[in-house]
Amino acid sequence: MSDKEAALANLQKIQAEGLAALEAVTEQEELEAWRVATLGRSSPVMGVFSSMGAMDQDLRPVMGKAANEVRTTLEAAFEAKRAALEEAALLKELETEKLDVTLPGRPVERGRLHPLTQVLRRIIRTFGDMGFQVYRSPEVETDDYNFTYLNMPPYHPARDMWDTFYTKDEGVLLRTHTSGGQIRVMRERAPEPIRVILPGTTMRYEQLSARSEIEFAQVEVLVVGEKVTFAELKGTLEDFAKRLFGEEARTRLRPSHFPFTEPSAEMDVECFVCGGKGCGVCKETGWLEILGCGMVHPVVLENGGYDPARYSGFAAGMGIDRSTLMRYRIDDIRHFRNNDIRFLRQF
Ligand code: DAH
Repeated sequence: MSDKEAALANLQKIQAEGLAALEAVTEQEELEAWRVATLGRSSPVMGVFSSMGAMDQDLRPVMGKAANEVRTTLEAAFEAKRAALEEAALLKELETEKLDVTLPGRPVERGRLHPLTQVLRRIIRTFGDMGFQVYRSPEVETDDYNFTYLNMPPYHPARDMWDTFYTKDEGVLLRTHTSGGQIRVMRERAPEPIRVILPGTTMRYEQLSARSEIEFAQVEVLVVGEKVTFAELKGTLEDFAKRLFGEEARTRLRPSHFPFTEPSAEMDVECFVCGGKGCGVCKETGWLEILGCGMVHPVVLENGGYDPARYSGFAAGMGIDRSTLMRYRIDDIRHFRNNDIRFLRQF
């Protein structure tokens, strides 16, 4: 074998070994190692190039061409392998990210209305059916609307019935009841007849306990017109109670006192827990108090812009937290505003 033949055979061997080694490569890192070993500066094929200076003149062009071909072949094989590995990696990724459109969807959790909102909406709907409009009045109220115009001038002892949150602003407070809204409706509507309810949040400076909260909700009722009588008060409120609690629900009126009504009363409904037999909820009386009411006091009518000689009216106010508590037999009023999802989920 001549030198030339031996050198060319060596090149063929380099190429064959390189390709064989590439055949075995399955990972990106292996491929890089192969590139360094086979085409890098100290690889066999590069060794052939650097040894050319020592070759015979006539051998050089032949060897240079052959070595170039081997290098090109190896480089092309490398490129092909690189592309193949890349594609395989992509396919594998697609495989694991595969989307099965036949899988059932993840259930979306349904929200629901807060129990107080549910009760409030039922009350609003019931009065709506009876021809009442809804009127909104502010939660931050003036002392005048909350007390004075309701027949309780400054220092009037009846103000003590409501423990009040006052603000830094003189004469501005958080309303202790929705009754102040009565004056706002009257001043807006006088001398038109009125038939409205005023639902909303009220606040009192109370010791927090299982039975009392500083924040609660009330619904105020106001009817004003010519010849509005106590009989209409009784009929309307009884009708309301039957619509809300059921046709069999019995009610009773007890005399009471409020500064803004004269005469005043409180309405009880037969205990819906025991049906009137007496139980822990109604404290063995068989009755549950649901609202305060009365004929609008002449002073209040006048403050609202209605001449009490010509107009009369009745009003009522009910708290909805306590009755919701009783209805669902909730043991602690503070659950309502704790926002504990485990509590709220039950309604
Ligand atoms: N505002 C009273 C309270 O919070 C409830 C009330 C009683 C409202 C009699 C009225 C009423 O409109 O006539 O205790």
